[in-house]
Amino acid sequence: MKKFYIETFGCQMNAHDSEKVIGNLISDGYSQVETFEDADLVFYNTCSIRDKAEQKVFNRLQNFRKAGKDKIFAVIGCVAQQEGEKIFEKAPHVSLVAGSASYNKLSQMLVQLEAGNKRVTGLSLDTDETFDTPMTRRDNPHRAYITIIEGCDKNCAYCVVPFTRGPERSRTSESVLNEASELAAMGYTEIQLLGQNVNSYRDPSPAGMNFAQLLRAAGQVPGMRRIRFTTSHPKDFTKEIVDAIAENPVLCNHVHLPVQSGSNEVLSRMLRSYTRDEYMRRIDWMKNCGRDIALTTDFIVGFPGETEADFEATLSLLDEVEYDAVFSFKYSKRPNTPALSLSDHMDETEKSRRLTILQEHQRQIQIRRNAGYVGRVEEVMVEGFNKATGQWIGRTGQNKTLNFLHHSGDEELVGKYTTVRVTRAGPNSLAGESVSQ
Ligand code: 5AD
Ligand code: SF4
Repeated sequence: MKKFYIETFGCQMNAHDSEKVIGNLISDGYSQVETFEDADLVFYNTCSIRDKAEQKVFNRLQNFRKAGKDKIFAVIGCVAQQEGEKIFEKAPHVSLVAGSASYNKLSQMLVQLEAGNKRVTGLSLDTDETFDTPMTRRDNPHRAYITIIEGCDKNCAYCVVPFTRGPERSRTSESVLNEASELAAMGYTEIQLLGQNVNSYRDPSPAGMNFAQLLRAAGQVPGMRRIRFTTSHPKDFTKEIVDAIAENPVLCNHVHLPVQSGSNEVLSRMLRSYTRDEYMRRIDWMKNCGRDIALTTDFIVGFPGETEADFEATLSLLDEVEYDAVFSFKYSKRPNTPALSLSDHMDETEKSRRLTILQEHQRQIQIRRNAGYVGRVEEVMVEGFNKATGQWIGRTGQNKTLNFLHHSGDEELVGKYTTVRVTRAGPNSLAGESVSQ
């Protein structure tokens, strides 16, 4: 039996793609090994969202090359799609280059590799199919990802994703809901609905569900206790989604709504198609819906032409929303993207300065916000145990990490739900003690 090894970088979509690729390989008769050295076939699932992520790919490929003479190398994912056949020139030991829109042809591509073909490609973005596999090897026994939509039709000026993942393709609601029911039957209690922009989900079947309707239906699947979704685009984020969350506690009270900037001028140059006010209206729906929804976001600093006043507007948005967590990045030039042709690209030092200020500003907000949790009792799903601290690692519905002590015996808690009283809070996590029931 041929042995394969896979390494994965990037977002949750990529992590889940790897799970599906693994399922596909196993059903084609391959077996997975844990180290690169033991493999005949090496898969490398790549990310190209920022320049740094991409650099890593070529460094890693060089390491692989030195260490593995008789192996077959496959580069898949976003760098594969973006660089295409150029990868064969830069890394001649690679035999397969394929982007995510071609994974539904993976079995055929494997046959070609087996036949000794040294230049196998899957680079067409011209597909209306999604990558559904009869078998997906899932990494986590308690929480599972479900893809509902692939690709992206937005054209944010900085973003490479429309070029690496192709146009939007939604799965039918029936196949999504069947997968959720199968997962529940297997013992999964938490699912995360995935897509580059889940809000633009459009059921291609006659049921014709929109995202809010799919979310509502997923919330009715017996056995599911927590449903999350990521990621959202403010333009397509409707009040109906908030109403669905307000009505059903199975739909988690956490929404990740990337804003990118607090300045209307920058938002407009980013081609984000909403204003700060329109974004704030969505935040207000959530703050006034009757459930305590945790809010997280993404920011890009140093977008071309971002003035000091634009940056101040971003800081004031942090204060206005009071996010529970923020992911922030320095703008990075990406091939093919509209932002390349903008003037006033900023130097790295200034981008770094702004990033540090933003992160410190947000840190203070999180210290303040999390302090408000001390004394509260929260339900967590237990994810692990930290031997060094003797604490269990839990996650709240709001997606906050809550580490806790559990005094009664050494029973296995991982995958279970338990209630915890919060006793301490830091900027990035909470700590507490389990409440005896
Ligand atoms: N430069 C920096 N950050 C980027 N992101 C996407 N493209 C770029 C880029 N070219 C960030 C956005 C997005 C997150 C996933 O990555 O904030 O929401
Ligand atoms: Fe990276 Fe974007 Fe591709 Fe995800 S979709 S792997 S974040 S480039």
